[in-house]
Amino acid sequence: MEEKILVLDFGGQYNQLIARRVREQKVYAEIKPYDKISLEEIKKEKYKGIIFTGGPNSVYDGAAPRYDKGILDIGIPVLGICYGAQLMAYLGGGEVCAAENSSEYGKTEVTVVNNVLFDDVSERSICWMSHTDFIKKPPEGFSVIAYTANCPCAAMYDGRRKLYAVQFHPEVSHTVYGERILHNFLYGVCGCTGMWTMEDFAARTIKKYRKELAGKKVLLALSGGVDSSVAAVLLQKAIGNDLVCVFVDHGLLRKNEGDIVERTFKGRFGINVIRVNAEKRFLEKLAGVSDPEKKRKLIGEEFIRVFEEEASGLGKINVLAQGTIYPDVVESGKGSSAVIKSHHNVGGLPDTISFEMITEPLRDLFKDEVRKVGTELGIPKEIVWRQPFPGPGLAVRIIGEITKEKLDILREADAVFCEEIAQAGLETQTDQYFAVLTDLRSVGVKGDARTYSYTVALRAVTTDDFMTAEWTRLPYDVLERAGSRIVNEICGISRVVYDITSKPPATVEWE
Ligand code: XMP
Repeated sequence: MEEKILVLDFGGQYNQLIARRVREQKVYAEIKPYDKISLEEIKKEKYKGIIFTGGPNSVYDGAAPRYDKGILDIGIPVLGICYGAQLMAYLGGGEVCAAENSSEYGKTEVTVVNNVLFDDVSERSICWMSHTDFIKKPPEGFSVIAYTANCPCAAMYDGRRKLYAVQFHPEVSHTVYGERILHNFLYGVCGCTGMWTMEDFAARTIKKYRKELAGKKVLLALSGGVDSSVAAVLLQKAIGNDLVCVFVDHGLLRKNEGDIVERTFKGRFGINVIRVNAEKRFLEKLAGVSDPEKKRKLIGEEFIRVFEEEASGLGKINVLAQGTIYPDVVESGKGSSAVIKSHHNVGGLPDTISFEMITEPLRDLFKDEVRKVGTELGIPKEIVWRQPFPGPGLAVRIIGEITKEKLDILREADAVFCEEIAQAGLETQTDQYFAVLTDLRSVGVKGDARTYSYTVALRAVTTDDFMTAEWTRLPYDVLERAGSRIVNEICGISRVVYDITSKPPATVEWE
């Protein structure tokens, strides 16, 4: 990579957002926790610039994350954001203060002076603040270049060493000129030229794999989700039929999904896809199981078993390819957080099969970048823009025991709901939407007869990152049409409800 920015992570909640914002400006950015990269390594990597992220601490806390102050003198431009700004002040010998009455949270008016960081930025504008401590006295060599009513130093710089710091968050969309400020840092201060584009990425990756994987047989678990699909097409373009994709159809997919995946990848892209119809095996395993975690574990284990059996019949496989993306890489380096649900990802590494190597063509990309690459490669938009679908599939959308009958009822209800969303042109207004088959039966009346059938819940959420989500305010008439079609057209359902819980405290999936 010829041009890259280091996002030095001090534990801020926006670290990934910062990297994404940099990449949106066509500059590659990578995130490293502050305690995982030494000053020597930073020098070796030849970064064009460094961004210190925010963080929850106060620089004077004993346990606060700090860094070798030599980082300010290695000749690489630095932009400190929030805690990163205070850290820069602290390392440089300035003064940081905690004062309850100077804390700012939310949209705040900031006034800036003339400086390269603020080229094309209005003298007064709204920025996003979230801090208690503030920089009381900038270090020697620094000048204040922005302030707010409560914060005497909302930004500072040392032009000689190209060190910049902002107390506010330019990466957050509420900061009106945030994008411009980052652009000014990247292009005006660091001298970046904008080499990171997805056209380039696709061409470069295909070329690299043509060489690296020549003569090797590569196996990929294809789920039909966007990540494994893009990885499959990239690899196919590099090595053709030396790529074998195994698509395990566990019978827990949505209506027609298995056929669509097979048709698209085999038919349209000529990829060597083996579809394993394993519905019966999975249903046998799941019979009588209603505990959600147990369902997930069983499906995960069975998936690996089926995959292994298939792989063992393929002769020598040299490489296992996986659709890992950058957030997975960043998050896995972070230690363990509380397990809320054990997420089973189709494509997880079976640890009993041995390969010479694992390849992860998308491990440097964020989701939006994966979608751009997919579009570049000509993958149809239904797949590139597909909403997320959990590895354990409809099993986590059927409360209680899973049976073929329940799966079929749910598939129909889900298809009707999706049709109505599409019909109303709302596919891009909501980030994930689906039906859930609850375990609750209730009384209804159809014709003159009493019914006693299942309740279906409809769920639609709006979110940026699926860590938090709002329930989508779908128009009543869309809900009405979906609801009445579901009870009228599908046997076995007598009631439809709409889920109006946000995440947290609920999760997106019901199990
Ligand atoms: P939750 O339910 O945890 O879901 O709020 C957040 C997002 O993750 C998806 N999800 C999964 N994806 N394997 C996956 O690959 C899983 O086991 C799984 N569980 C939930 C969910 O659909 C939502 O997009």
